[in-house]
Amino acid sequence: MTTHLFCPISVGPLSLPHRVAMAPLTRSRAGQPGNIPTDMNTTYYRQRASAALIISEATQISPQGQGYAWTPGIHTEAQIAGWRAVADAVHAEGGRMFLQLWHVGRVSHPMFQPANALPVAPSALPVPGKTFVTDPDGNGIWADIPVPQALTAAGVAEIVADYRQAARNAMAAGMDGVEIHAGNGYLLDQFINSASNHRQDNYGGSIENRARFLLEVVDAVSAEIGAERVAVRLTPMGRFMGMGDTTPEDTFGYIVGRLNEWPLAYLHLVEPAIVGTVRDEHVDPRWDAIIRQLRKTYQGVLMLAGGYDGESAERAIADGRADIIAFGRPFIGNPDLPERLRGNYPLNTPDAAAFFGGGAQGYVDYPVLSQDQAA
Ligand code: FNR
Repeated sequence: MTTHLFCPISVGPLSLPHRVAMAPLTRSRAGQPGNIPTDMNTTYYRQRASAALIISEATQISPQGQGYAWTPGIHTEAQIAGWRAVADAVHAEGGRMFLQLWHVGRVSHPMFQPANALPVAPSALPVPGKTFVTDPDGNGIWADIPVPQALTAAGVAEIVADYRQAARNAMAAGMDGVEIHAGNGYLLDQFINSASNHRQDNYGGSIENRARFLLEVVDAVSAEIGAERVAVRLTPMGRFMGMGDTTPEDTFGYIVGRLNEWPLAYLHLVEPAIVGTVRDEHVDPRWDAIIRQLRKTYQGVLMLAGGYDGESAERAIADGRADIIAFGRPFIGNPDLPERLRGNYPLNTPDAAAFFGGGAQGYVDYPVLSQDQAA
C-alpha cells in the first residue's frame, strides 16, 4: 500500500500529483566544450518526467563554481539554451523541474578556475578528498585538491550576485524553480560547518555568522525569482569532504528556523547515512534526532532523501516524518520509478560503474515496465 506516497501536494505554485521526487544526481555527461546540456541529457530527463518533481543534477553557477569534469553550468547563453530544451521536454511530458544551483568552493582544481587560480573557500585549510579532472588526453582522472584561498568579503558578495544571476538564467531556461545546494561539503556547507570555517569576520565564528552567506543567497535568489520557487538542500551531520560541526543541533536548528522567514517551495534534507555516493562509515548517532528536530522547526514543506525504498518512503509520509521523498539511485535505474513503486513492481538495479561520465549506456537505456514485461 502506498496510499500516502501517492497523495497530491502543493509546492509553491506547483501541484505535484504524488510525493516521489527525483533527487539531484550528477552524471557528468554535459556536452563539451562548454558544459552544455545535450540531446542525450534531454532524453534522460524526459524519460523521468513522471517524477513528482525532478531536481536537476548540480549545475555550476559560474566557472569558479565548477569542481568536476563534464558537469553542466547555467552561466552561458548556450547552457541556458541547452537547459531550455530539457525543461521543455519535461513539461511536454507533464512534468515539473527545479535546477540545482551549485558552487563547489574548495572542492575544485585550478584547471577549472578562471586564470588557473586556487579554488575559493571560507578558510585556507587542507581538503580531505579528491576531485575528478581530465588529463591532457581528455580522460577523467582523480586528482588531489590543493589548499584553497580564503574568500574576501567582496568575493562573497560577487558569489551572491552569481547565484542571483544563475537563478534568473534558470527561469529564462523555463525551469519551475531552483534548489540551492547547501550540502555535501560544497561552498555554502563549508561556511556553515565549524570544521571548515575558521574566519574571524562577519562570515565566521558564531552560528549567525556562519549561516550568513547561505541566508544572503536565499534572500538574493528569492528577490530575483520569488521565494515560492526557491528551495534549499542541507546535509546536517554530513562528513563528506571534511565537514563537521561542533554543535550541529544548534547550527542547523538556527538555519532552519531562519529559513521560515521566506515562503520557500520546500526544504530538502539528506539523511546523513548517505552523503554523495558514499555510505558514511561514521554516521553520527544523533542523526535521527536532528531530522526530527528540524522537521518540528521547519514550518513549510519538507523533502527527505537518502536510502529510501517504497515501503520506508510510505512510512515516512504516513508518520509525518516528511512531506516528499526524493529518490536518487533508484531513479537512475528506473525511469518510471513512481509507477513501479505504486504497483509494487520489481526495480532495475542501477549500474554504479556508469554513474559518472560515459555515454548512453547506464544512462538512457534502462527499461520501463512495459519493456520489462515484453521481455
Ligand atoms: C548524488 N547526490 C547528489 N546530491 C546533490 O545534492 N547534488 C548532486 O548533484 C548529487 N549527485 C549525486 C550523484 C550520484 C551518482 C549519486 C548516487 C548521488 C546525492 C543524492 O541526491 C541522494 O541524496 C543520495 O543518492 C541518497 O539517495 P538514494 O540514492 O539513497 O535514494
